[in-house]
Amino acid sequence: MSVRRGSRLFTLALVAACASACGGRVDHASRLSFSGSALGPEAEVLRGQLARFDEAHPDVRVELRVTPDAADQRHQLYVQWLTGRASEPDVLQLDVIWTAEFAAAGWILPLEAFGPDVEDFFTAAAEAARWEGRLVAIPWFVDVGLLYWRTDLMDAAPRSLAALREAARGSIEAGATRLGLVWQGARYEGLITVFLEHLAAFGGGILDAEGRVIVDEPPALRALTFMRDAVSGGGFVPSSALTWQEEQVRFAFQNGDAAFMRNWPYAWTLLQDAARSRVAGRVSVAPLPAADDGRPAAALGGAQLAVNAHSANPSLAWELVAFLTAPEQMLERARLAGQLPPRRSLYETRALEEALPIPIAQVREVIDVAVPRPVTPVYSELSEILQVRVHRALTGQQAPEAALRDAAREMRELLARSGL
Ligand code: GLC
Repeated sequence: MSVRRGSRLFTLALVAACASACGGRVDHASRLSFSGSALGPEAEVLRGQLARFDEAHPDVRVELRVTPDAADQRHQLYVQWLTGRASEPDVLQLDVIWTAEFAAAGWILPLEAFGPDVEDFFTAAAEAARWEGRLVAIPWFVDVGLLYWRTDLMDAAPRSLAALREAARGSIEAGATRLGLVWQGARYEGLITVFLEHLAAFGGGILDAEGRVIVDEPPALRALTFMRDAVSGGGFVPSSALTWQEEQVRFAFQNGDAAFMRNWPYAWTLLQDAARSRVAGRVSVAPLPAADDGRPAAALGGAQLAVNAHSANPSLAWELVAFLTAPEQMLERARLAGQLPPRRSLYETRALEEALPIPIAQVREVIDVAVPRPVTPVYSELSEILQVRVHRALTGQQAPEAALRDAAREMRELLARSGL
């Protein structure tokens, strides 16, 4: 017998002995893969935390699969992996809007068997992690859409959409900034979050509480018309924003080009980095203000962690989920990436206030007005219909009224086809 084969047999014997004696530790002699986003400082936080998990589990190596920044592209990639019943990635970072779809398809594991404790999570975050009564993910961070405004150009955040428009136009006219307001206008999920905020600001929505499509009703028409006018003729949102996602929007604001920006909390730390940002120390945040008939609003986003239903090592995958969603890791993520923890208890301690770079009072004000996107297994398809139509209206290819009428019809057909 060769030395190599002998040593392999010895290892196998050890592993087998351990399997019976070490309470299942055979699981640990393995590799795990994790897929997640690496936008701005997220990558650094994640690499550091995965390295700490590796250190605490010397016989495990976690591989990071970096996925595209754009939510829709990441979604497509996941769907490809999971419909092919791939066993990797073992742990998936899910956008809150995908959970229903992935759970209904049986792609992610119910987690009760691992004894998770979800008492501490905000109700909305915990609810978003359930499907048909089962817990299928663990909330990781909460995102809310923020209106970033320049404290060197104005004394306070605008209290109405009309005031926002005037301040944005005023800034351009006075030559203080080249652009007024910048937001995510590319045809992708980010555009729907911006649209949702305008819908709420005008008193509208995508679906009502019974799941009926209301996106062709008068408030929605007013919201889309406001957005279209903001972009076209003498507007205050640049038409280039119709190809922008989070990062392009951030660059424009960070370079000092705009008076206002709509973006997620991750942008805050990057904006405050004086070596790279021209607006460091001159930024504050507020919710998007309301029109006369609506309310200030912020789209509720964020991420959860789930275990691939075909993972070869679900209990180890669960350990990684539990580690990454523990308070300590959440505080670090808040400190380095400015992302908000979904654990209620953290908001009652000074630790979060000290860790979070965004003033906690400003953030609370926005969380209070956060609105979720519809929870349905066909959310991605609904969103795609809306993306196409809203984008067509913004680029002037279709009038807002016709765009919303078409969107609503296609959405109703989709819901009827899916039996929803
Ligand atoms: C952020 C949010 C997510 C949203 C996406 C849109 O990642 O957390 O919920 O769908 O942006 O671009």
